[in-house]
Amino acid sequence: MLKNNKKRVLSGMRATGRLHIGNYLGAIKGMIELQENKQYEVFYMIADVHTITTPYDKDSLVQKRENVILDYLAAGLNPSKASIFIQSEISEHVELSYYLSSVVTVARMLHLPTYKDKIKQYPENATMALLNYPVLMASDILLYKADQVPVGIDQEPHLEVAREIARKMNDYYGTDFPEPTRFATKGGYIPSLLGEGKMSKTVEGSYINLTDNLDTILNKLAKAPTDSGKGFGVPNSGPVANLLQLVSLFEGDEKKKYYEQEYLSLGIKYTELKHDLATAIYLALEPIQDKRKDLESKKNYVQSVVEEGARKARIIAGHTVFEVKEKMGFI
Ligand code: TRP
Repeated sequence: MLKNNKKRVLSGMRATGRLHIGNYLGAIKGMIELQENKQYEVFYMIADVHTITTPYDKDSLVQKRENVILDYLAAGLNPSKASIFIQSEISEHVELSYYLSSVVTVARMLHLPTYKDKIKQYPENATMALLNYPVLMASDILLYKADQVPVGIDQEPHLEVAREIARKMNDYYGTDFPEPTRFATKGGYIPSLLGEGKMSKTVEGSYINLTDNLDTILNKLAKAPTDSGKGFGVPNSGPVANLLQLVSLFEGDEKKKYYEQEYLSLGIKYTELKHDLATAIYLALEPIQDKRKDLESKKNYVQSVVEEGARKARIIAGHTVFEVKEKMGFI
């Protein structure tokens, strides 16, 4: 019996660059919370196959993937509690995604907000791989029959697709895929420093990396747009609201309330706000950075983590694909 009575968790991150504080607050914190929960069997992967859905540099793919693994471990993912693995090393992810694509219509995929955003960003790159992104993600999740998926709120449309696919597969073929739900954390949506949209590693100037030092954080915050600092009502969207949200996440709600009072009276001094915020962010990142430095010199250890993770993942993935092939009439 492969599925013990523990529920499963799966999450992943693309190997596009260094992790930023948006990934940390929106996803990694939830990933840590679930790995500590004994009710769950936990799988975290580096979604390197997803990386090829947008233009990428093949010569640095392995390097970027390694960076994500190091960031994962430094941020607190614990290999004795979670299986950490590389997606491309388990070929069942791609295989199952093809089987699953037979229950998904092209029209459904064309209407996803993420697809529309990406083709705006890369008009020359409306590829099949990009269109299939959500199906591959559903495959990642369903392979492990995961119930909980700790990811940022921007991934909700993709989870909806995964649920639809699970329902259809169960209906048509009698599989027993659970409908996965998103596991949300307090910092679910981390705004961009630029004042519009979310913090994203593909939008320059929008993010603070987990590896940024205090100077870099100060410089990035210095460029974040603001306003005159006072007015009759505190903005609830846009650049100032974004800064205040970061204040709340890194310095607490009280500090945010203090600035809100200032806004309505004497006015906020943004240089001070940014200085204090940068310091608070840096203090939160420092232990992660120390741990990362330590891990950088332990290449063999890091290698053994993903080997062991792949070994555990492969057993379950192989079992699910066999079952699906059987139910779909191949066997
Ligand atoms: N699409 C996710 C993101 O951009 C990454 C991802 C790929 C993922 N496969 C997944 C997340 C499976 C959760 C589960 O953040």
